[in-house]
Amino acid sequence: MAQFLISLAALERNARILQDVAQASGAHMLVALKAFSTTAGLAALRPYAAGCCASGLYEARLGARHVGGHVAVYSPAYREAELAELLDFAHHIDFNSVPQWQRWRQQCLAHPRVQSGELQLGLRINPCFSTGHTPLYDPCVPGSRLGIPADQLEGVDLSGISGLHFHTLCEQGAGELIDTFRAFEKQFGSLLASPQIRYINLGGGHWITKPDYDRAALIDLVREIRSMYHVEVFLEPGEAWAIHTGVLRARVLDVFESLGYRHAILDVSASAHMPDVLEMPYRPDVFAVHSGGTDAPAVSLPGESYSAAAEAGEKAYTYRLGAPTCLAGDVIGDYSFDYPLQVDDVLVLDDMSHYTVVKTTHFNGVPHPDIAVLQPGGPIQVVKHFDYADFESRLG
Ligand SMILES: Cc1ncc(COP(=O)(O)O)c(C=O)c1O
Repeated sequence: MAQFLISLAALERNARILQDVAQASGAHMLVALKAFSTTAGLAALRPYAAGCCASGLYEARLGARHVGGHVAVYSPAYREAELAELLDFAHHIDFNSVPQWQRWRQQCLAHPRVQSGELQLGLRINPCFSTGHTPLYDPCVPGSRLGIPADQLEGVDLSGISGLHFHTLCEQGAGELIDTFRAFEKQFGSLLASPQIRYINLGGGHWITKPDYDRAALIDLVREIRSMYHVEVFLEPGEAWAIHTGVLRARVLDVFESLGYRHAILDVSASAHMPDVLEMPYRPDVFAVHSGGTDAPAVSLPGESYSAAAEAGEKAYTYRLGAPTCLAGDVIGDYSFDYPLQVDDVLVLDDMSHYTVVKTTHFNGVPHPDIAVLQPGGPIQVVKHFDYADFESRLG
């Protein structure tokens, strides 16, 4: 059975780095649940996180239960019943447009938790400053629906707003954040400096746990913002908590040649289980479980050794790794191996904790991989096995 395998020790390693940055800078470090929300993994992050960033009611409920602490919610638009429930337990609710703020303003301001200051209300703004390279992941693309540009705030009644939020980065460094903050400051600096603003949320997309991330620069920026504007600073990375903590273990179901290619069909699908491979697109590192191998994926198991696959043609045996679905483009990529692949060989697809499990489907009725965690120094615990009933129950 295919398996998402997540290492709790690796999650803790990332979490410690993020907690150190939070402590040194005075920022509140939230977990963006949209990236990673396997509850057994959240249990490992909980001691280190200040709370969660939720995209709506369901994630907010999950975060309140499994992360605890601060619940910051931002959604492009709220439903009435959703907002009513959020008002009872969220700590920040951020609005995406002027009409959303105007629509819900009275209901929010009348709520006792808003009046007591336990719940604060904010606006997601759009600094219209792109630093990314992939339009699909860039909230500042022309025509974006995400966040309020500066000119739209003119003349709007902002009484009751005490927070500003932007999210514009994707897998980026402190330099891009600093540039973005300067662009934000130019447009929104006087609002940020006004006494009504009590918090700023710098969103996610910060690759803080990557070895070459300039953490000192991030810490300096957060300290500067706190001392200059007298606001609380929130960061809400997702990927940074989960990067390099998990793998997707797949099995070879068939090997054959056709139309000039050697194909290996796996028991996992890019479309159903790792859609970013097609959307971003990106190419995961792949390892074959092979005796005598000397390479290591993010999560390795005692008694197993691994041999890294290379670009097509670099090693002796090249295969197109494809899914057991009908989608012609459901291909993970062309990879070469030292040895010929055989049915039942195990391949390990690297870095598969974030933006995978949260996005999966049962497309084509492909059995969903198990979700399992590797206890520190200990056994594998399968925390969820999916069966036919799971497939049928989602289809109505
Ligand atoms: C509003 C918001 N906050 C935080 C994040 C988390 O981003 P990342 O996982 O890249 O850190 C996202 C990702 O899309 C987002 O849209």
